Amino acid sequence: MLAMAMMGAAITIAHEGEAMGQPSFDAYREDVIGRANVADTPELVAYYQRLSELGTGALWTVANKIEPWEPASTSVPMLWRYRDLREDVLRALQLVTPEQAGRRVVYLENPGRSDVVAAVGWLYSGLQVMAPGECASSHRHSASALRFIMEGSGAFTNVDGHKLTLGRNDFVLTPNGTWHEHGVAEDGTICIWQDGLDIPLMNALEANFYEVHPDLNQAVGFPVDDTTATWAGSGLRPQGQEWSKRYSPMLKYEWAPTYEALSKLARVSDGSPYDGIIMDYVNPVTGGPVMPTIGAQMQLLRPGEHTKAHRQVGSFVYQCAKGQGFSIIGGQRFDWQERDIFVVPAWMWHEHANASASEDACLFAFHDLPVMRSLGLYREEALGENGGHQPLI
Ligand SMILES: [Fe+2]
Repeated sequence: MLAMAMMGAAITIAHEGEAMGQPSFDAYREDVIGRANVADTPELVAYYQRLSELGTGALWTVANKIEPWEPASTSVPMLWRYRDLREDVLRALQLVTPEQAGRRVVYLENPGRSDVVAAVGWLYSGLQVMAPGECASSHRHSASALRFIMEGSGAFTNVDGHKLTLGRNDFVLTPNGTWHEHGVAEDGTICIWQDGLDIPLMNALEANFYEVHPDLNQAVGFPVDDTTATWAGSGLRPQGQEWSKRYSPMLKYEWAPTYEALSKLARVSDGSPYDGIIMDYVNPVTGGPVMPTIGAQMQLLRPGEHTKAHRQVGSFVYQCAKGQGFSIIGGQRFDWQERDIFVVPAWMWHEHANASASEDACLFAFHDLPVMRSLGLYREEALGENGGHQPLI
């Protein structure tokens, strides 16, 4: 018998293995009114076996498994230290060309989600490396994608004819359905960036298409960096520019104005007790998320700040963009510094701390909250006990 505390009450779940070669169908019984609680009998087992032969089953044998009391993520919280990964990411430069690989990426694998190649939940992430003069072939797909630039100079992305030049801590979109390719200028340096996509979600929805551009590389059809020049006006919107697509027309969000916005907000606001000073990257036309399935945020933790714990319906992939500190996720402490990546599974308690007494720390994150919100599934909860802090496991 496996006992577990849930919803404040002790619930006992029957968890018997197969005895004497007899199959067990009552492993998920719960002794709670309203939940399935049917013990196996020889007659029932014979009935279940007959149903199985018909390509069917009795719902009460699996109901408690497929409808948990609350989200039960199979993802585990984890952190990838950049100093552990960097040399091996660079090694891929010698091992494969972009032409061979399509995209030269080392992906982040959550042991609970290796079957769907997710870093957490339904989100994929990886580290892509390119050398000066290299350019990957143009393609488009159903998955929505983003990039967060980690190191190097001269990186660029072309999105539907718009060329975006990319620097450290810049955040760039390649929304679903847009032709895009990435490269590094001849006079640039080796570049590494984090990719984030909803590939696992698209596959779960069985909605994923992929196409290679017929010309392999697309023509640049607009002035370089025109999307940011057009849409990044602080509190300003260009007249006569219409936009009705479901993603942000801005495509690139630069680090300098992002950090400035957070620093200014920190001067006039206490921010969130759970996240410090936090701002969403938005579609400037709607004020909503940058893409229909993926949202992104940047947060600033002031020197010495340690937030309170909360949990949310949705999965998060974080990258430390500045400073150092730690996060406690599901009761485990993960220490991070600049460029480290960590994940918070859905409905798992998490809190963040800046380890410096003098410098601020910034965390970039992308998440699937737009999916949760558009389907009416989003919830969040603050930890009430223990002063709002998790006991360490
Ligand atoms: Fe892509």
